[in-house]
Amino acid sequence: MLIEPIRRDTDHVEILDQRRLPESERWLICTTGNDVVEAIQTLAVRGAPAIGIAGLYGLWLEAMRLQHQPQFSAMLQDAADRISQARPTAVNLSWAVNQALEKIRGLDPRETVSTLRDLADVVKVQDVENNVAMGQAGLTLFSGPAKILTHCNAGSLATAGYGTALGVIRALHEKQWIDQVWVDETRPLLQGARLTAWELEHDRIPATLLTDSMASQVMALGEVDAVIVGADRIARNGDTANKIGTYGLAVLANYHNIPFYVAAPVSTLDPVTPDGLHIPIEHRAADEVRRCGGISTAPTTIAVYNPAFDVTPASLITAIITERGVIRPPYGNAIDQLTREAKDA
Ligand code: MRU
Repeated sequence: MLIEPIRRDTDHVEILDQRRLPESERWLICTTGNDVVEAIQTLAVRGAPAIGIAGLYGLWLEAMRLQHQPQFSAMLQDAADRISQARPTAVNLSWAVNQALEKIRGLDPRETVSTLRDLADVVKVQDVENNVAMGQAGLTLFSGPAKILTHCNAGSLATAGYGTALGVIRALHEKQWIDQVWVDETRPLLQGARLTAWELEHDRIPATLLTDSMASQVMALGEVDAVIVGADRIARNGDTANKIGTYGLAVLANYHNIPFYVAAPVSTLDPVTPDGLHIPIEHRAADEVRRCGGISTAPTTIAVYNPAFDVTPASLITAIITERGVIRPPYGNAIDQLTREAKDA
């Protein structure tokens, strides 16, 4: 059964609280835009497409709450700014909020509320369709059973369902072409161990958990046929921001002659940002590194470096898998064309 991490009700939004997985499956009830901002910032909901969809529902909740205020438009614009700045790296969040603001221009408060709700519902449904299409596009890169290594969580939990990198893995599994999925645990917050491992077990896809530092060893042993990861933002030249550790994996894959694929929807392509140097990278709290599972694993005052994402240069990316097909280097023109096509569709 498809895991659906975000659900809308008549007056609230329910978010599967990913901070508690895999220990417990608890749903967080959000009734305001600020509830959603907090859920995004504390990673109760995370993953680029999922935070875009959550952001849209957050804006709908705010429109409902503010609809009788005389300063409705200005207050909603403030809420939109807060939501789109909740996390800076994933472009899907600002993409979703900008799309919403364009749709509601000139509408009265009542129409705004229903338009935002309908837009969020549509984007959510389309996201799953895109992921299934991405899975089919990804299949064209394989001709038989494979051992895949993945990092972080780019699965159902990071999207409206099915997943991007895990969507390709699911499509391979549906063809019985998965021999093995190597799951990087993904320090510091263990999205691989807590979320990807949970999803793969849920769907009975053969998977083995690794600490991040073990990836080189399984590659050296010839046990990895391809690396597939998700993305938070892909600049016009193909440089890709994704969970910290992705860049290191790409270097390792290159050294071992293993194809390195990025799976992402067209909404993650950012033709306005020329290259990786211009992608804003979120830095997170020091205690995420000093502590693990609620206990101290380092001196409490040690200085910490904690970027949530790194940038993999386009030169290390064999191909990018989107719902509109697979693109290969040089990426610039293909990225322009895919974003134009998606806008016109
Ligand atoms: O900090 P997170 O857990 O939101 O980071 C998520 C990732 O890096 C994912 O790989 C990316 O958002 C793609 S999700 C389909």
